[in-house]
Amino acid sequence: MARVVLGVAGGIAAYKAVELLRQLTETGHDVTVVPTASALEFVGAPTWAALSGKPVTTSTWDDVHDVPHVRIGQEADLVVVAPATANLLAKAAHGLADDLLTNTLLTARCPVVMAPAMHTEMWEHAATQSNAATLRSRGVLVVEPAVGRLTGADSGSGRLPEPAELALLCFRVLARGLADATTLDLLGRRVVVSSGGTREHLDPVRFLGNRSSGRQGHALARAAVARGAEVVLVTSSSLADPAGTKVVHVTSAAEMHDAVLAESASADAVVMAAAVADYRPAERLSTKRKKTDALSVELVQNPDILRELVSQRGAGQVLVGFAAETGDDHADVLTHGRAKLARKGCDLLVVNEVGETGHPTGFEGPDNAATILAADGSVTEVPLGSKDALADALWDLVAARFCS
Ligand code: CTP
Repeated sequence: MARVVLGVAGGIAAYKAVELLRQLTETGHDVTVVPTASALEFVGAPTWAALSGKPVTTSTWDDVHDVPHVRIGQEADLVVVAPATANLLAKAAHGLADDLLTNTLLTARCPVVMAPAMHTEMWEHAATQSNAATLRSRGVLVVEPAVGRLTGADSGSGRLPEPAELALLCFRVLARGLADATTLDLLGRRVVVSSGGTREHLDPVRFLGNRSSGRQGHALARAAVARGAEVVLVTSSSLADPAGTKVVHVTSAAEMHDAVLAESASADAVVMAAAVADYRPAERLSTKRKKTDALSVELVQNPDILRELVSQRGAGQVLVGFAAETGDDHADVLTHGRAKLARKGCDLLVVNEVGETGHPTGFEGPDNAATILAADGSVTEVPLGSKDALADALWDLVAARFCS
């Protein structure tokens, strides 16, 4: 759990910072919100206090015995200011300290992320650009504003990026530090990721499925985008499409097969994070099946997408499989994983334990832990952490194979 200071300056985008706060607290972070007085004109102190579980003040004159204007900054692992207005950027660039947020920025020695949001003219003004450049030269990560709809009917550069993108950036900075969080080591690479559990329909209402939520695959897509890759996500998940990716929605293993193979021809890497059903009903009824005393359904085998990818892989293409395993009477999880790596013939296999016993991870939740087995025999343990952290650990290994 990291200590995060969420600074909120006085812009209409303050409402989006509420969602950012939720995402930070829901992932277990200890968040102190430090709004400016103008921020409270947009979103009131009770909202920040209720969602952060802490009192909120804008002033250096409250709780003076606790010296908050020094303590909050000193204790932080990350300060993120969202939205950062033109006024806040100007004050920060010049070292002004006339409220709790600007004091905090002067005392913080941790990574500082600022997400500007304002009208295009204000963002493009020479004064604002010079202030952003000054802050960047001092090591502050000043995020480029998004382009799109602004406060009124107008649109242009100056939108606050979506809270989910800012949250991801915060997680990356906390996990990897400022420099590594923004490394574009997948720039120029095209990667295909599959995610979700496929649904094999019995009739228009019922299907055979599995517990995969698609969260790990979506995390992989987001992390690859953040590292500069062109990303295609082939997914059967109903999660929101990750920003910056081409998303191909599919339902069944057969549809996933066709989409993945079509997209993979020119890909530098393919990561099969999807839980593809091995079997489908031999027959899909066009009308709803009626109840009978007993029912047996004939199943036929689906194509093995990963094995097909391996059999037709292009030069230098890196292929990654996932294996959600339980140990059984014959072998433990890793022994099953090694056998699967050999059987599939891929370069890397992400093995995680699932099921009711042991330390099950993987399905549905935000966290995962895994052992990544490589065809060259190397083994990388990824301890329990966010699915975003596991995604980054996997891309580290893929990126290393591009370089070798
Ligand atoms: N996979 C695939 N096509 C399938 C089944 C699985 O591409 N029809 C991929 C998965 O996306 C995953 C890897 O193969 O990356 C391993 O999936 P898994 O279901 O564990 O493999 P199986 O060969 O089906 O082995 P098992 O007998 O354990 O189910």
